[in-house]
Amino acid sequence: MHNPFYVSSYFSPNYFCDREKETSTLKDSLENGRNTVLLSLRRMGKTGLIKHLFYKLKEEKNSYTVYVDIMSTHSAQEFTDTLANAVMEVFSSTTKRMFDNMMSFFKKFSPVMTFDSITGVPQISLKLADEQQTENSITAILEYLEKQNKPVYIAIDEFQQIVNYEHKGFEAFLRSNIQHLNNVRFIFSGSQQQILLNMFGKYSRPFYQSGDYLKLERIEKEIYAGFIVEKFKETKKDILREDILEVLEWLDVYTFYVQNFFNKLWFISGKTVKKKDIDKTKEYVLNEHEFIYSNMSNILSAVQYKLIVAIALNGGIEKPTSKEFINKFGLGTPSTVSSAIKSLEDKELVFKENGKVRVYDIFFEKWIEEKHRHLL
Ligand SMILES: Nc1ncnc2c1ncn2[C@@H]1O[C@H](COP(=O)(O)OP(=O)(O)O)[C@@H](O)[C@H]1O
Ligand SMILES: [Mg+2]
Repeated sequence: MHNPFYVSSYFSPNYFCDREKETSTLKDSLENGRNTVLLSLRRMGKTGLIKHLFYKLKEEKNSYTVYVDIMSTHSAQEFTDTLANAVMEVFSSTTKRMFDNMMSFFKKFSPVMTFDSITGVPQISLKLADEQQTENSITAILEYLEKQNKPVYIAIDEFQQIVNYEHKGFEAFLRSNIQHLNNVRFIFSGSQQQILLNMFGKYSRPFYQSGDYLKLERIEKEIYAGFIVEKFKETKKDILREDILEVLEWLDVYTFYVQNFFNKLWFISGKTVKKKDIDKTKEYVLNEHEFIYSNMSNILSAVQYKLIVAIALNGGIEKPTSKEFINKFGLGTPSTVSSAIKSLEDKELVFKENGKVRVYDIFFEKWIEEKHRHLL
């Protein structure tokens, strides 16, 4: 029997917990011609949600779904290649006629074809020489999608990445090309919420008000617990609901950490999950990253390290520059704390949620609690 807790990509609806409301909200937006900006902390489940929705849409066969992850792109050229490959992947798995049609479309670009050395999947590179060629290619691809016999839904994951491209006016170019499409709808997804909120919420920006917002929150604790009980049961294992709830609390119901934890717990436990299995898993997830976490004090400045320890031990902090907090943990002056917070935020080691600064990596937070408990 295989492990029912997936920790990398999406597998199938059976291993995906809830998100029913979010799935139908997204679907309604697409089907009614509206683009959506999908936001959350990283590792909360945006990519999973998109894949889940696209899985269902594929079954319905009323649309084409194109998933584009631009996380690792650094230029508009790379963006275009990534988009071209995603489109190619979708249309190469349809009918022979559509496949031929797509091939003759891409031939116009005289692309260079390579094969992924690991998966063997064919990849194309359009070898775009300059900004004009890049823009023309994107326009052509979008026009190609606009002419399809079914609506095309494109999810661009980690969309904030486009602000890092050197290409002048790329944001405005993209917006003006997307604007007039009737057959193509978009999901713009990303973890760098402030950048996306600025892109879509500022009057001066090209994408101003061009999408609905969907903010992905934590899965409801009771629902997640029910899902976990069920997955253990389906694989002939027993676990107490109250034990699950305790772990969910411990992990702040943070999707990635929950999946990771229960993946390991499932693996080490027998037919009945015992308290000692849970303790062992807790110990395991903290020890597993020991070499990274214990190296943090070398990577960060003394103030930054002291501060992140203080934030973890305090269980988050609303006013990190308050006298009380600074004195309690001996953090120096409010201005050093302010700039240290900024650096930790830039490094994505802490985040702000509901006015509270917290440690991003839940396992790291727990590790600090264990390691530096004596400072309290
Ligand atoms: N609803 C869900 N049920 C089960 N696992 C999920 C769910 N949503 C996300 N995951 C898992 O949690 C991890 C983080 O989710 P991911 O979608 O990659 O987050 P994000 O895109 O927001 O960074 C992944 O391993 C994913 O498989
Ligand atoms: Mg993601």
